[in-house]
Amino acid sequence: MMNTDNRYLWQHKDLLDCNQLSCDDVFHLLDLARSFQDIHKRPVRKIPTLQGRTVVLFFVENSTRTKTSFDVAGKRLSADTHALSLAGSSLNKGESLLDTGLTLEAMHPDVIVVRHSSSGTAEFLAKHLSCGIVNAGDGWHAHPTQALLDCYSLRTVWGDAFAGKTLLILGDIAHSRVARSNVVLWTKLGVSVRLAGPRTLLPPGLSTWPVTVFNSLDEAIEDVDAVMCLRLQLERQQAGLLPSLAEYSKRFCLTSKHMAKAKPDAVVLHPGPLNRGLEIADGVADSAKSLILNQVQAGVCVRMAILYLLATRK
Ligand code: CP
Repeated sequence: MMNTDNRYLWQHKDLLDCNQLSCDDVFHLLDLARSFQDIHKRPVRKIPTLQGRTVVLFFVENSTRTKTSFDVAGKRLSADTHALSLAGSSLNKGESLLDTGLTLEAMHPDVIVVRHSSSGTAEFLAKHLSCGIVNAGDGWHAHPTQALLDCYSLRTVWGDAFAGKTLLILGDIAHSRVARSNVVLWTKLGVSVRLAGPRTLLPPGLSTWPVTVFNSLDEAIEDVDAVMCLRLQLERQQAGLLPSLAEYSKRFCLTSKHMAKAKPDAVVLHPGPLNRGLEIADGVADSAKSLILNQVQAGVCVRMAILYLLATRK
């Protein structure tokens, strides 16, 4: 069931972003995830692989998919999982992030999975703590486990023939850690990445990114193999970046009419949560082209692989 390539050694204490991963790391992780994918079909959805290991889910920012799937992933591997959120934690009494991290580490977890609204939080904890740290999303910076599960999902459709494929990432690129981690991962794997969105939602310094940038969705979607639609991050936006939501939706909401310009077998991804009717039409989100719920399923087995690799690293 496990990848038995004895020449390969996972060498990372932490998973902070995709730029730390080699292609071998990525494919090893995805193969391992695939070996876990059918456990949910069993009558008993649990294997003893991480029995006696401890995983802390330290989520200082809201999450449905990432937090729940890490919890399910840990439990499927028989690890003990413990959740700490901002509400109910002593961060709310003024305890510093470092003191909170050191306190959690004193309980001897194998892995701490952290989500935080500030970029660099996971890296900061990784520098100060000896247990494994997984970045479950830090500010606008990175969301590596999302990019890896996106890759897992597209691999089920494309196989290993990534080179020559074109992926369009659409929407609020400026505020998106999902976009940043996906650009890093897909370009590493030889996929051409296009970005499209209103100028005000494209980040500064894009000329140094290995991507092609479009301001028109109709042009950007021409002949692509996949579209990754992003959530409009209303909670992170300063006022005035968009004339109106109606205007945004008119220009950038992904509809079946747009999808007709992509390759006939093109598929659609969205990291969730969805703003239906704003960035993606129901007719696309719920269509046969949509991999959105496949992404959620992939999230569990990819996160099982990540917890396994970090918790068992020698
Ligand atoms: N895609 C994603 O990170 O979703 P959650 O915020 O629900 O975890």
